[in-house]
Amino acid sequence: MAGRSKYRKTDEDLKRKYRPESLVSSYGYDPHLSEGSVIPPIFLSSTFVFPTAEEGERSFRMAYHLGKAKEGEHPSLIYSRLNNPDLEILEDRLTLFEKGTEKGAVFSSGMGAIATLSLALLRQGDSLIYSAPVYGGTDHLFSHILPQLGIRTIPFDAGAPGKEVEPLLREAAKSGHPPRLVFVETPANPTCTHTDVREMREAIDRFAGRSKRRPYLAVDNTFLGPMWQHPAEHGADLVVYSATKFLGGHSDVVAGAVLGPAALVENEIKTYRTMLGTNLGPFEGYLLLRSLNTLKMRMKGQMVNAQHVAEWLDAHPKVVSVHYPGLLQLGDPQRTIFDRQCSGAGSMITFYLKGGKREAFRFLNALEIFHLAVSLGSTESLAEHPATMTHSDLDPDSRLRLGITDQMIRLSIGAEHYEDLIADLSQALDRV
Ligand SMILES: Cc1ncc(COP(=O)(O)O)c(C=O)c1O
Repeated sequence: MAGRSKYRKTDEDLKRKYRPESLVSSYGYDPHLSEGSVIPPIFLSSTFVFPTAEEGERSFRMAYHLGKAKEGEHPSLIYSRLNNPDLEILEDRLTLFEKGTEKGAVFSSGMGAIATLSLALLRQGDSLIYSAPVYGGTDHLFSHILPQLGIRTIPFDAGAPGKEVEPLLREAAKSGHPPRLVFVETPANPTCTHTDVREMREAIDRFAGRSKRRPYLAVDNTFLGPMWQHPAEHGADLVVYSATKFLGGHSDVVAGAVLGPAALVENEIKTYRTMLGTNLGPFEGYLLLRSLNTLKMRMKGQMVNAQHVAEWLDAHPKVVSVHYPGLLQLGDPQRTIFDRQCSGAGSMITFYLKGGKREAFRFLNALEIFHLAVSLGSTESLAEHPATMTHSDLDPDSRLRLGITDQMIRLSIGAEHYEDLIADLSQALDRV
């Protein structure tokens, strides 16, 4: 629904010529419209002055889709629930990193993004097919809230091949609940299980055939994106983020994003964002703009650290197993998916300790450098216990079946020195 602000200077040629990290500090912004300021000022204004009443009318007609915009015509800034200069610059800059997407929409949180896209795409009687596990909040939305609205929600095991998902689509349609959205979180939180995006796309295409009502494929790319995985290049319609994580990177902002084709993002998703009021605030937008300048360096450094930590944990006698993409062996079907759709292993590690909840809590309580906290993707390392924290709200039977046991610990590896992180893990494991 939002249009272009006059503060932006988007140049597709630049995008083709330079890499995202080289463009990110200038893309979509003309300093000469803001007193030459190198960085975009924070536009805290809730409302924006129209040059004329006619322009105000035209902008509303475009923003509310009451009339067709002329070629190259963009609505003026109107009101920050609809559009805001900082947020529009941020949305443009996110598309630099998220290959294969045209437009972005930012939200007040990752859950704001997922809830808004669900409400925008699903109607009463439709069904949603989703990989499990997903982040606990997403699970609650899918298992409890959407069904109250008459939407049928059907989970499948993360990592399942397309040939197992296609019958779910067919059965849903047969039972009178046409599937409208397939939602995949890959790697899954907290198990780090990969689901093959290309196979999901192919399963949807086989199911839909020539039908115009082809279900959308949305991928939550929070764990590996936007540096190490680009779902739109593998057939996802929409790429979803908790921007609170790697995009923000400093544990000081809660935000979300959805990226995809212009028509879907601008018309469907932003219309719902405007009416639900789930847009991000300008100050949070500014924090994210600042974070994007260091995104590649942070994610690269954190990944190098994580590989060291994962290898060390894997050899520890008190550790049963470690789930980290950088440890996947050739011949493992998970490695095949990883090789096909990921260019790096990221910095999320899940491992299983010997013992049970008592041992897991002793370990967590003994950590000195790692913060005992949920969330992920920041420059400080974090450790948590999914079974009693992020995923405590899951149905206990499915939680166990999905491998979220009392022995499981989830680590988000930060930018500290990896030898110090290992020293901390070592002394904490000694106290178990
Ligand atoms: C994979 C994933 N998606 C979505 C969310 C929700 O994001 P937020 O907390 O920004 O609402 C989270 C939060 O932890 C997450 O881990």
